[in-house]
Amino acid sequence: MSSPTFDQQAVPSQWTHRHLLDLERLTPDEIRLLLDTATLFKEATGGCRRKLAVLTGTTVVTLFFENSTRTKTSFALAARRLGADVVDFSASSSSLSKGESFIDTARNLEAMGIDAVVVRHGTPGTPHLLAQHLSVGVINAGDGPHEHPTQGLLDIFSIRERLGDLQGVTVGLVGDIAHSRTARSNLWGLVKLGARVIVCGPPTLVSDRWRELGVEVSHDLDAIVPRCDVLNLLRIQFERQNTRPFPSVREYAHLYAMTRERLKRAKKDLLILAPGPINRGVEVSAEVADCPQSLILDQVANGLAVRMGVLWLTCGPRAADAVPAAIPTRGGF
Ligand code: NCD
Repeated sequence: MSSPTFDQQAVPSQWTHRHLLDLERLTPDEIRLLLDTATLFKEATGGCRRKLAVLTGTTVVTLFFENSTRTKTSFALAARRLGADVVDFSASSSSLSKGESFIDTARNLEAMGIDAVVVRHGTPGTPHLLAQHLSVGVINAGDGPHEHPTQGLLDIFSIRERLGDLQGVTVGLVGDIAHSRTARSNLWGLVKLGARVIVCGPPTLVSDRWRELGVEVSHDLDAIVPRCDVLNLLRIQFERQNTRPFPSVREYAHLYAMTRERLKRAKKDLLILAPGPINRGVEVSAEVADCPQSLILDQVANGLAVRMGVLWLTCGPRAADAVPAAIPTRGGF
């Protein structure tokens, strides 16, 4: 069977943003459009393996001030598979170490004729600040504990691929909700698409105030496991904590790790997600991480599709733009 063709000449007019900063401020329709665009790219590229040169002539800069394995590689691969050039900005060897301000550095990169910046920073709001100062597209790849919109989208994409509509699906977000940007982006996206969300973890990491956002709060994993269709197991973000939020990792794992024993009490087709990096034996046992219901590696693969969709929507040609003659392949695949 031949793959579907990608015949979109321009970014759909319903998408009006130059940036992807968070999911909190997107409408349900905009989130659906992002997910549908990712599906389109996944199908048109044979599962993101083939190139589809619709962003030829575009330059994307990855600007990462925090460590990353999956997100940076995934953005770079997604951009390259769309035909864009990718430049990796190394913060430690840049003129930031000579006292240049963050905004000046970004403006200098912009002056080189780039089209988009993918930024990860430990300070919440950094991508929003960049978006105020730059005219190129800004994509948030994680801003401190605030949001990680493409992770939220790829998690939701992976659930939707298995279960279809999110309406009425019960998703448990388990772990360090207080410091997890993945939790926040999931929460906004899931609630907007009609899923029931339960945040679960120790009281020191899961405040009752989450209820104000329309989600259920639980401190008892055993009580919620049988009710969930999906569990997203979040890493304890030790690097963002000033004091230890529980007496020992062993005690945390005893109460909140997803184990084979707990899996026995779950719905038989419960889906297991984790954004990675996973700490086997802390938030998830090795058997559960590798069990047939685990989507952990599917999530990584789907990250490419989601990032292709995000890059296309933020950097692709608008209907009003003249399509430059130098991009003959655009729309031709
Ligand atoms: C997440 C992150 O960096 O926020 N990981 C990721 O992007 N794949 C989650 C985490 O670090 O635990």
